[in-house]
Amino acid sequence: MASSVDFSRVRKAVIPAAGWGTRFLPATKASPKEMLPVVDKPTIQYVVEEAAHSGLDDILIVTGRTKRAIEDHFDRSTELEAVLSAKGRAELLELVEGISRIAELHFVRQKEQLGLGHAVLCARHHVGDRPFAVLLGDDIIDSVEPVTAQLLSLAAAEGCGVVALERHTGPEISRYGVVSGRPLREGVFSIEGLVEKPPAEKAPSQLAVMGRYVLPPSVFELLEQTAPGVGGEIQITDALDRLAREDRLLGLEYEGRRYDIGDKHGWMVANIELMLKHPTLGPPLRDYLRGHPATR
Ligand code: UTP
Repeated sequence: MASSVDFSRVRKAVIPAAGWGTRFLPATKASPKEMLPVVDKPTIQYVVEEAAHSGLDDILIVTGRTKRAIEDHFDRSTELEAVLSAKGRAELLELVEGISRIAELHFVRQKEQLGLGHAVLCARHHVGDRPFAVLLGDDIIDSVEPVTAQLLSLAAAEGCGVVALERHTGPEISRYGVVSGRPLREGVFSIEGLVEKPPAEKAPSQLAVMGRYVLPPSVFELLEQTAPGVGGEIQITDALDRLAREDRLLGLEYEGRRYDIGDKHGWMVANIELMLKHPTLGPPLRDYLRGHPATR
């Protein structure tokens, strides 16, 4: 099956955000992990901004029960806007109004949390028969060029799907989907197969798939045919394994620093590092970290 899909004008992004977030309990019992603030913005706003800054202007967020705050965040808040306007808080008003203008947002509910692959499948009707991007709603990637834009450039140049790869030399590789394949050039891999959460000693490479993808619409058919795999969930890794074998799939070792916000440590590190980069919040935090006994 040779791909004849036009990857040069991708417009749609899908952001799965329906997972349970068990690694972050109890905070995620009734609140979405995607709404956890990093510095001063909820995690999912970083992800939506990455999609928008990558040229994707039609964004579908896959939500579930207990996730209503995500929709509210991107909606207008006319009462708050009226209060800020009456108080003459022009800067905050601009900040709040701007959120509802970042991109055209749509929402669909995943009614049962049957896995990431199933969440992506929930986007089938909205996406239709064009290639699309997937950005996981709990991964922030800080980079000069948005990582999704990096993937889109390669997909357009090569005319095939591309997934983001990160090199892991330690045992933590067993937490991810891992690729086998061969390097085409610096940072670009031709993927021959994928395996979900392999034991570290059996991992086919050091390259793990991270939460950004550019995919052809044919992946929906493959997901439709994918039986529950590791953890009883419909795994996107299994569908991508078939895509790699039957069509063509590349991996890109992207440039950027990734934070897994679904993990308590990852969330804290993101807050520290990104606040240190903030023009006004950074310097006092740096002073605190240097001088406080608790940080020694
Ligand atoms: P995770 O592997 O982080 O799972 O999902 P999770 O359930 O959200 O969190 P933990 O492991 O229990 O703490 C990766 C991505 O897939 C989405 C999540 O929202 C996250 O963006 N996802 C996962 C869904 O949208 N639906 C699912 O059924 C599972």
